[in-house]
Amino acid sequence: NPDRSAILTIFGASGDLAWRKLVPALYRLAQGGWLPENFRVLGLGHTEMSDDAFREHLREGVEQSVDDENFSEEGWEAFARTLRYIAGDFLEDTIYTELAEALDAQEKSWSAKGCRMFYLATPPSMIDVIPAKLHRAGLAQSRRRARIVVEKPFGRDLESARALNKELTELFHEHQIYRIDHYLGKETVQNILAFRFANALFEPIWDRRYIDHVQITVAERVGVGSRGSYYEGAGALRDMIQNHLLQIFSLVAMEPPVSFEAEEVRNRKIDLLRAVRRIKPEEVSDVAVRGQYAKGWLQGEAVGGYRAEQDVAEDSSTETYAAMKLFVDNWRWQGVPFYLRTGKRLPQRASDVSVHFAQVPHNSFPANASAGWEPNRIELHIQPEEGIDLRFQAKRPGLKMRLSPVQMRFSYKDAFKDRSPFAYETLLLDVIKGDATLFMRADQVEEAWAIMAPVLSVWGENPAMDFPNYAAGTWGPEAAEALIARDGRSWLSPSGG
Ligand code: BG6
Repeated sequence: NPDRSAILTIFGASGDLAWRKLVPALYRLAQGGWLPENFRVLGLGHTEMSDDAFREHLREGVEQSVDDENFSEEGWEAFARTLRYIAGDFLEDTIYTELAEALDAQEKSWSAKGCRMFYLATPPSMIDVIPAKLHRAGLAQSRRRARIVVEKPFGRDLESARALNKELTELFHEHQIYRIDHYLGKETVQNILAFRFANALFEPIWDRRYIDHVQITVAERVGVGSRGSYYEGAGALRDMIQNHLLQIFSLVAMEPPVSFEAEEVRNRKIDLLRAVRRIKPEEVSDVAVRGQYAKGWLQGEAVGGYRAEQDVAEDSSTETYAAMKLFVDNWRWQGVPFYLRTGKRLPQRASDVSVHFAQVPHNSFPANASAGWEPNRIELHIQPEEGIDLRFQAKRPGLKMRLSPVQMRFSYKDAFKDRSPFAYETLLLDVIKGDATLFMRADQVEEAWAIMAPVLSVWGENPAMDFPNYAAGTWGPEAAEALIARDGRSWLSPSGG
């Protein structure tokens, strides 16, 4: 029974993702009693290490991720017993034979066949190697029990994503493949579905008749850190917009699903992505903006420019900021622009969706009453201050009729005392349960690349001449302001201004 027994094999277990995200998430699942009765983690990596050294190394990551209150010595001891390590080279067959033997031996000791998950926490190139080797070792074939989990990037453009999907689906069935976009594991991203479809209040006005435009911002304060060599070949469009921002966009704009079955939700998302108006190459400069950070100041500290980061070319033309305007050609959204932007080294870490409503059809108030009038707005705050704000006008106290915008706020922190699971907790548990709702299907990934394709190719063929074009600690290049200002609108800064 796969629900009762499960083995998670992590390729790249001595790496950063396992240390920072996967194992802390598993530890929390273990603490909450969420893991199957029989559970093992097999860590695979290049570095030679004993099981104990592996455990010690991971302990540090867990201690840093969960605060002291949630770390218990006994809890850790019990959890650490589920961790094992095998060193080897992923390019060689031997490690797969060893893995197969270890899996068999483990299941034999349980007298139960469990679910076998293979998690690729490896550099992107390994996706061309590991799935095929797993298949050759006979580890992919059990359709019900074997699952493979892959991290982005899924290709670097439409062609490579298609080739990758083709290759993967020759080795594993689509329902065995879990393509992770960790934004979908975030509580507030899932709450977009609850907000829209568990309330009768908002959905009737969620369309072109009432909504003027939508903004989606994912701002980061961090730079590229030690990931320069990956990031140089990616850039903000590939790293963030093609996946995380388009996923948020899908949840904000998709049609209501009949149920939350994986295929139903994924079908609604693909309907939306297919309806996104394709950008013509000659329109790219009107609807997409790129930027790269120069040195600047963040929270009172001097920070270097992108070109001075480790493993980054001195004349790099990789964008660390991207903004785009999208239209959706369907009944609900015809004519409503969606503005998307993301960047590194911006003043704040903040992911927000703001839905800007149309003006009232007729203003009955005298001009001096409505000086500060703002159209209604719903702001979905994804991180770090999770919550929802509703902005509307109120009469200011006083003997005259004067209007002022005010807001109603729902804050997760104040409304719920329960702790939020880490995104990876939710996603790993879903893989164990075999629920693919929050994972990306092959066609979704390809459609997302198809939307990006014209921009990628125009930008690829014409390296930016003005890089770097924004200082670290500012809201991106001026052209991004112009992109939205041309439409008579402006970006809403995450602090609400
Ligand atoms: C990753 C990107 O997918 O998401 C990173 O590769 C980015 O460049 C990260 O920093 C942001 O995730 P989060 O959860 O910190 O918002």
